[in-house]
Formats: sequence, C-alpha cells, structure tokens
Amino acid sequence: MTEMIPASQSAPQSAPVATGVRLADYRPPAFLVDEVHLDFRLAPASTRVTARLALRRNGGGDAPLVLSGRGLKPVGFAIDGMPLAEDRYTVTDEDLTVRDVPNSFTFESEVEIDPDGNRALEGLYTSGGRFYTQCEAEGFRRITWFPDRPDVLARYTVRIEAEKAYPRLLSNGNLIEQGELAGERHYAVWQDPFPKPCYLFALVAGNLDLLEDSFVTASGREVALRLFVDPGQAPRVAYAMDSLKRAMRWDEANYGREYDLDLFMIVAVRDFNMGAMENKGLNIFNSSLLIADPETATDLDYERIESVVAHEYFHNWTGNRITCRDWFQLCVKEGLTVFRDQSFSADMRGEAVQRIKDVRALRARQFPEDAGPLAHPARPDHYQKIDNFYTATVYEKGAEIVRLLRTLIGPEDYRSGMDLYFQRFDGQAVTVEDFVSCFADVTGSDLSGVLSWYLQAGTPEVSVTPRYDAAAKTLSLDLRQSVPPTRGMGDKVPLPVPLRLGLLDAEGRQQSFLAPGADEPESEAVVTLRGATDTITLTGVAEAPVLSTLRGFSAPVSLTVTEPGENRFIRLAHDPDLFNRWEAGQSLARDLMLARVKGEPDRTGERRFVDALGRAMADQSSEPAFKALLLALPSEQDLALAAPPADPAAIHEARDNLRQLAAEVLRGQLEALHDGLVALGSFSPDAESAGRRALRNAALDILMAAGTPSDIARAKAHADGASDMTTALGGLSALMQAGGAAYDSAVAAFYTRWRDEPLVIDKWFALQARSPAPDVLDRVKALTEHPAFDAKTPNRFRALVSTFAQMNPARFHDPSGAGYRFLADQILAVDQFNPQVAARQLEPLGGWRRYKPELAALMKAELARILASPGLSANVAELAAKALAE
Ligand code: BES
Ligand code: ZN
Repeated sequence: MTEMIPASQSAPQSAPVATGVRLADYRPPAFLVDEVHLDFRLAPASTRVTARLALRRNGGGDAPLVLSGRGLKPVGFAIDGMPLAEDRYTVTDEDLTVRDVPNSFTFESEVEIDPDGNRALEGLYTSGGRFYTQCEAEGFRRITWFPDRPDVLARYTVRIEAEKAYPRLLSNGNLIEQGELAGERHYAVWQDPFPKPCYLFALVAGNLDLLEDSFVTASGREVALRLFVDPGQAPRVAYAMDSLKRAMRWDEANYGREYDLDLFMIVAVRDFNMGAMENKGLNIFNSSLLIADPETATDLDYERIESVVAHEYFHNWTGNRITCRDWFQLCVKEGLTVFRDQSFSADMRGEAVQRIKDVRALRARQFPEDAGPLAHPARPDHYQKIDNFYTATVYEKGAEIVRLLRTLIGPEDYRSGMDLYFQRFDGQAVTVEDFVSCFADVTGSDLSGVLSWYLQAGTPEVSVTPRYDAAAKTLSLDLRQSVPPTRGMGDKVPLPVPLRLGLLDAEGRQQSFLAPGADEPESEAVVTLRGATDTITLTGVAEAPVLSTLRGFSAPVSLTVTEPGENRFIRLAHDPDLFNRWEAGQSLARDLMLARVKGEPDRTGERRFVDALGRAMADQSSEPAFKALLLALPSEQDLALAAPPADPAAIHEARDNLRQLAAEVLRGQLEALHDGLVALGSFSPDAESAGRRALRNAALDILMAAGTPSDIARAKAHADGASDMTTALGGLSALMQAGGAAYDSAVAAFYTRWRDEPLVIDKWFALQARSPAPDVLDRVKALTEHPAFDAKTPNRFRALVSTFAQMNPARFHDPSGAGYRFLADQILAVDQFNPQVAARQLEPLGGWRRYKPELAALMKAELARILASPGLSANVAELAAKALAE
C-alpha cells in the first residue's frame, strides 16, 4: 500500500502493493554517486529542487538507472546536459527508470515540491513559517530523485535561494559562499567534504536566533558551535550547549573521537516526528529536547536533553563516518550509539541510578516487544516499512548487546575493538558482522555467540539454582537458559550470558569467594553461561550465602533464582550493588501487589516490606535519587506485564492499596522527607538537586494515596510554592489524585500562566491525560476540542493521546472499550497526514494478548476496524496486521 500524500504533492497513484524488503535480497548499488549538486529555490507552497548527480556504474552490466522519488512533480530530466527523450524513462509513484545510460554520466532533474502541504514531516516541510528537512530513513526521495539507500555515499554541494524573509539558510558542512540577489532575495552555498548517505542531508531556512560558543578539540582545532532556535529562545539552549561540550569532551576521552568539521550546528523545531536527528554537521532536534529553563523544564527534560544531545553528537562517528550498509543494520548505528549515550549519562549522573532507569525502560518497552507478535532480532531480516523498525529492540536491546560484549571481553579489549572499527571502516557503510569482527580480531576469540544475540529474537530465560556445600565451602550454581520461540523463529541457540555476581552472608555483609579461573578471592566476579545448561562452582565460600546475581543487569535476560523469598529483604537492605538492591525492592513489591490482584493479600509481607522501605529511606548513606527510585513502586504497566492476563482495574486497586499502607506506616518519615527536602537557594539542574526534587515528589505521591485534608493542603502548598517545573508538576499531579475543586482551579491557573509556552502546554495536556478520575476519557475528548490542541503537531498529539493510552492503564482499559475506540479514532485521523506518528500509537492496542479476554476482544475489534479502514497507510497496515495475526 502507498502512503497518503497531500493532493498537491501526489504523483499518479498505482495500485497498492504490499511490498516487503528482505536482507537476503541485498545487492550492492548498480550506480554510485560521487558528487551531488542540489539547488533549492524555496517557497512554502512550491519549492523548486534541481539535482545534478555525478553517477558511475558500480561493477559491470547494463542495468538501467533506477532512482527513488515520491510525490515529486517532475519539471525536467537531462543526462550529460541533454534533455531526456520521453521514451528513455518511466516514472511511477515510487521510482524513475532511465534506460540505456552510459557507465559514467551526470543526471540532472528538476522537480517541484510543496513543503507547506507536507504534514507527514518527512522530506522538506514547513513549521512555524520556516523550512526544515527530515530524511532518515527514506525522506530524501520526497525531495529529489536519488538512489535513496545508505550505502550510496556522495559529496554534497547545496545552494539555497530564498526571499530575505528567510534570513538563515543552512545545510551540512561548510558555508562556502553567500550573497544577495535582486528582488529582496539571497542565497548561500554549503559544501560537505565528507561523503555521506542521503539520509544525513539537511536543510533549514528561516528566521532563527542563535546561541554561539566554541570548542577546542584535543588536537587543538577550534570548532564553532551554533544552536538555532525560534526568535527569543536563545538563552534557553544554554544547557544544551553545555551538554554538547561535555559530550564532545567525553567522546575524546572515552573513544578517542574528535569532531571533524569546523562547525557544528543544532536547530530546534516544534513539529518533528521523532526526538532528534544526527544530520552531518546540522543536527535537527525536536524543540522539547533542546530548550530548557528552570521555570519551564522538568529535571527529566534536562536529563533527556543531555543524553539526546550526546546521542546525536556521538552519531558523528557511529552512524555518519561509519554508516549502515542497509537498514537491516540499523543497530550498528543506533544500538551502539544508545550504549554510548547511556555510558555518558552514567558518567554525568551516577552509574546505578542511570542503569536502573535504562533497565526499567528496557523491560517496559523491549521485553514485551520481544515476547509479542512484533518480536524481531536486533538485526531483523525483513520488513515492510523501515519506519516501523526504529524499535525498542533495535535501540535498547542493541545497546544491551554492546554492553554485554564489553562485559564479556573487558573494557580494554572493548576499546581496542572500537579503535579497530573506526580505523578499518571509516568512510564505509557496514554490517553487524563487520562490527563484531573487530572485537573478534583484537581478542582472537570466537564471538559468534555475540552475533547470535543480534540474530535471534526473544528474551532468554535464565535460571540459577545454588547448592551450598558447608563441608567443602563451595557454592555450585546450576545454570540453565532457554529462548522462547518467537514468530517465524523456532529453534534457538544458547547465547553467552555474562552474570556479574557477589555473595552476601546472613547479615548482608559481602563474602569473598574464588571464582573459576581466578587467582585470588574476590567479592565480585563475572561468570558466563554459554551452553543450554552449565554448572559453575565457587570455592572458599565461608558460609551459606545470599546470592546477588545479574548485578547491574549484566545481560538482557529474564532471571529466576531458586532461593527463599526472604533473601530479597537482605539484598534490599544491604546489597552493595545498588541495581540489585533496587531490584529486590521492586520484586517484593510486585509479588505483594500481584497477590492482592489474585485476591490473596499477604498482609504480614506487606507490612514487612513497608518497614524495610522505611529503613531504606532512613539510610543516610544513599543518595536521594536512588531513594526516589526505591520509593517508586512498580508501575501499573509493569504489573500488567508481570502476570498476564492482566486486569488493569484490579492492578490499579492493588497498587493503591500498597501505597496507602506505605502512607499510613511511613507517614511521619514521608512528611519529614517532604519538609526537609524543600529547595534551598537558586535552581540547579544537576543530578544531586534533581534527586532531591524527585524524592520530594515521590514522598508526596505516596502520602496522596491517603489523601487526608492535610495531605491535600500539603500538595497545594507544594504546587503553590514551586519555583521549578518539576516541583510544580509534582504538586499538580498530587492534587490531581485527590481531584475536586482544588485540582480544577490549579489546572485552570496553570493554563493561564503558561498559555504562551508550547512546551509547557504540552505538559499541561499530558498531566490531565493521566488523571485517575472516572470521567477522564470525557475530559480527554473535550481537550481534543481545546483551541490549543493540534493533532498536526506530534508533540501536542502525543501529549494528550499517547499519554492517555500508555500512562493511564486503568482508564484506557475501561471495560466499555471506549478508551480503545478513542485511540483507534485518533490513529485513523492522524494517519491521513502523518503515518509515522499514527503507527507509533498502535502499541497500546497491539498488546491485547496480555489482557483478560473481555478486554482483549474489544482491543482486537478496534485493531480490525483500523485494518479495514480505507486509505490506510502502509505503516499502520503493517503493524495492525501483525498485531492481529495468529
Ligand atoms: N537517527 C535517529 C532519528 C530518527 C529515527 C530519524 C527514526 C528517522 C527515523 C536519532 O539518532 C535517534 O535515534 N533519535 C531518538 C532519540 C535518541 C536519543 C534515542 C529519537 O528520535 O527518538
Ligand atoms: Zn540515534
């Protein structure tokens, strides 16, 4: 099927075809492009694009030239300066075929496109009266005819011409010329010395303000740093600038990578399908991930800005200098770069806290994907729409595999392998095998097991059964792994699973032990399970231990340890590995809440858990940020995943119950925390201060489960006294739990105060979508009619619609099915103009198998209704069909 194209841009439509792309069908490109000259004459409703490509046959043969293009209005074609006769070429709505071409020639095309009419936000589009591009993965074909595939690397020269009403004219690389033209027009010419695939092309034009700084690289080169934003916003990108400089320094120190151009630019745009994009020398960011100031941004915003700025910057080497051979190899740039940004964030903000957050996200998004109908390997082997393969598996599991590789071979060999990778493949488009080969070569070891991690879908299930021999002072660990079958993939091979582990004694003190192959007793070791089963024996174990394994979540597996449930209390109180300390608390809380869901509450266990939580809160040696994570009980979504088929209403109630008990038992302590953590002095976005604010909000959140008049007064004071957005939203969210007039008037006042700040109004929509009120769906529907609601701006649409569907499970899964119907209607409406954004909203319905039968049937019915709708995009059709397939 073809996507909907705005009428003004549509080429003649041929019959829809369900096309699939297979890795096995990969062939090197028939033609290479050495040089590209692009000439843009910008106008909002009709932009002229002339492209001159220097083409050369790759290998022999006499294949015709085939270029991709979509929604392009052809003006003319020429080869070596001669207009093309009509019988030499064929144009469809997807490609252009030119027959009888020589081995080396220039191809010139001129097309007209309509940036204003482009609400898919792919290719060249307008936002706020400015021009922006988004080309990954296949947006360049909406700009001009081109071999739109990542293994065609060309050098670009770009001329941009526009009215002076568009003062900034930006593209990749270096500005080599600019000047004035008659009729209040001007132009600029940019040249990028580095060959690149077309998905890294970018152009921005319009009235933008600038924050400027510079960076001196390790080798002493000065790089100009320019961040462009809507007029008046420049002071608000200071934190992004600071993050950028820290990321640049970090990549030098940790990977030996220096920036390679004299100019690095980032532009913020309000209308953007994704988070951010790594175009060479000219990153384009969703404004929500670049703009922040203390009054309007939350700590989470600061944290994400830091990590996304780093992520896109790190792509300059892992993605741009070395790119993907084809889109199946996406995780060589994304998984690797996510691992790099996670490591950076860990260095900036603390390893344990960062790791807990990353694992929480992995389990919430990737584990269910890997267990459901959309399961695919981190390196998939077929797809219909590549847009649908920017998945948690490619990103998050891809990052886990790199981390696991590093754990297996050690940090030094990992660094040598990366050095070799940069040296061997600079300027090339590579595969996952190429990446892994570098580590195999530097270590001289067989890393086919690591490759298997990339090729095999499904989350391995690992079990550990410890056997202690008091006489011999040995601890034997019987290990077992299996990978559940996933669609289209039956038999799986065992994978190398590194288990970082330590031993505690009954009082929680660390015990040393001798691991196989170690020379000296140690308090922690990494043992690797390689086969389907294995037994590993630790010696010199003085007393019966409490095992602490999979420390730091050393492999992306689902782990079961045969042990008394009691052991978790010891780890929660004492494990020196903070990840496992947190894990123990989550696991206890989860089991207790699930027991309530089943109608078998364990009141003694609950009380013990809450007391243990109280002791953890009193522990002066641990940081507030960590305590905030301990205090945040597993979410309703976590619980729904843990024990299918889920009953979201029962889960909501069970979770509320445990929060109420915590509020009751820990009241004095929580109130003291809330009072004591009140902000002193002026705002700072650093991790320490953010941790204090997070803990203060978390304490208030628990108290609100009781929701006494004094709690409500406390919440109101919290909201009214807020001088930063994290606290303001914490207060509003607490008031929302109680509902009523205090909440309604606070929400109205918030809107009045922030109505001119789009990023804050996004938060306003998102907050309301999370309300536990029984009539929240009616309120959400009413909000779609609010003058500030605009489904064409992805940020605004997601704030209301995705937040409701993903963050409000108890109300989204209303037994009437009204929540599902609402989501399906919204998906269908947005699919008319933005298939990428529409397709990303299917997940809450796609998980129907995990819900109780009455709900599952209603969810399926909505998916079927979507699938049967006329004019559906290929993006939505692929995911809806897969979600329904038996
Ligand atoms: N290359 C992607 C952006 C992208 C993704 C463009 C899909 C087109 C289609 C970019 O590097 C990226 O991964 N962005 C993430 C944020 C990142 C920090 C994980 C995003 O946009 O969500
Ligand atoms: Zn990326």
